[in-house]
Amino acid sequence: MICQACLIDFYEKKVKSTVLKYGMLKGVRSLGVAVSGGKDSMALIRVLSHLFPTINMKAIYIHLGIPEYSDKCEVVARKVCEEVGVELIIHRVSDEGYIIPDFQYTPFKSRICGACGTVKRYHLNRIAYEHGLDAIATGHNLDDTVEVLFELYLRGEVDEIARIRPVSPGIGTKMAARIKPLIEMTEEENLYYVDATNTPYVESWCPLVKGSRMMRRKELIRMIEEKIPGFRHTFFKSHIKRFLPRLEELSRHVQLRECEICGMPTTSNICSYCRLRSRVLRVVEMYGKAGS
Ligand code: AMP
Ligand code: FES
Ligand code: ZN
Repeated sequence: MICQACLIDFYEKKVKSTVLKYGMLKGVRSLGVAVSGGKDSMALIRVLSHLFPTINMKAIYIHLGIPEYSDKCEVVARKVCEEVGVELIIHRVSDEGYIIPDFQYTPFKSRICGACGTVKRYHLNRIAYEHGLDAIATGHNLDDTVEVLFELYLRGEVDEIARIRPVSPGIGTKMAARIKPLIEMTEEENLYYVDATNTPYVESWCPLVKGSRMMRRKELIRMIEEKIPGFRHTFFKSHIKRFLPRLEELSRHVQLRECEICGMPTTSNICSYCRLRSRVLRVVEMYGKAGS
């Protein structure tokens, strides 16, 4: 039986070793920590603020306008950030005239998580730029990573596979580096840590995600792990050590330019976020104001 204090110590050492191994905080003086209110990012803000007290940290919460759920997550994110003494920046997508559930009336209906992912990535990066943050840390864990890799390898999406890595370097001043300090931690380990440190978190899933393909793939990976213990670690290690070095050689160097609408970096004239936003705003115009 391992005691609480040893468990906390073990977890923190493991996260520190991941951060150092991949040079995640090399040259980073100010860091944005993306917090959702869920167990992973609540563990993330606690462990990073404890391990790296000299880094200037700001937590970022994107309020997605999901009825009840987004408010509940905000309350928890506020509470934990206050506890660990990290300033919290909140951005509400409703200030831009829509909320995430409005995507249900667009062609993104069945891929709402994908659209939501674009919205979150865009705002996290934009806030990092506006606040002069060098990098953004997210709470993606080993299970999230294996689930995404599983799908991408299955579909043979080579370019996308090459983007799944612990550190994505920043480009110029408008594209912050992205780091995933919990990429080697399992869901269970994050859960133990938040429980052992009495860190509050929202237990329920986003209502728009329930029953999604992503959830079913995660369930499948849990079943494989039961039959083949260590499956997640083995898959991840093969990706990092065997595939990624070769894929990175292959991956094309993309030419970035500024979006004609918002000025943020993009590979085409208009960035994917501005395209997404104009589609959802058309729907909001047709059906009434955001959230109604
Ligand atoms: P998810 O994409 O929901 O699996 O979340 C992965 C990570 O993205 C979380 O651990 C957070 O770091 C970040 N994240 C998710 N949702 C939000 C949000 N609403 N605001 C800020 N960061 C978020
Ligand atoms: Fe993005 Fe639920 S949090 S769809
Ligand atoms: Zn744009």
